[in-house]
Amino acid sequence: MKEEIQLLDKKFKIMIPAEKIDEAVSKVAAQINRDYADKENPVFIGILNGSFMFMSDLLKKIEFNCELSFVKMSSYSGTSTTGQVKELIGLNNSLEGRHVIIVEDIVDTGVSIKHSLEQLSKHNPASLAVCTLFFKPEAYRMERPIEYAAMNIGNEFIVGYGLDYNQMGRNMKDIYVVTE
Ligand code: IMP
Ligand code: MG
Repeated sequence: MKEEIQLLDKKFKIMIPAEKIDEAVSKVAAQINRDYADKENPVFIGILNGSFMFMSDLLKKIEFNCELSFVKMSSYSGTSTTGQVKELIGLNNSLEGRHVIIVEDIVDTGVSIKHSLEQLSKHNPASLAVCTLFFKPEAYRMERPIEYAAMNIGNEFIVGYGLDYNQMGRNMKDIYVVTE
């Protein structure tokens, strides 16, 4: 494990080693295992790209029968009378009447997760919950509580374990925080 890394123009230092992430993932998986034990075939929907590593490690710890799928938020945003419209692309499972758990890398202001929740609720799931690896409670601007947050952090910028700085750093198994 490197103490410091450089990605593009920024320097980062180690913040959370892989073992600590694994502990947090185990803890949140145990909560989900308990809460969904009696639910029929829940479906986990990972938001790409950030959630790929978390999804993989989380699902290895899930003990009930389930499905999983990945979607992506369209980077273009059309406009409508209600303002910006971002769409989730790649959804091919029917979510009607299903218990859906959205898997995110990080919830910051909550704007992105709000879009995902709005889009997925249109499919009439039986229930809709959010499981995020990281949550920034001080930055969060939405009313809706986040059901599962593996780790809370302050308003700092982190990379690694799926999270990126301009698409770089997603491959690292430890979490690094920006220093300059
Ligand atoms: P929100 O819409 O403000 O909640 O921001 C969520 C998105 O911003 C995440 O899906 C990330 O892509 C990005 N993001 C927010 N904070 C960080 C961070 O500390 N590191 C890397 N990406 C972040
Ligand atoms: Mg993201």
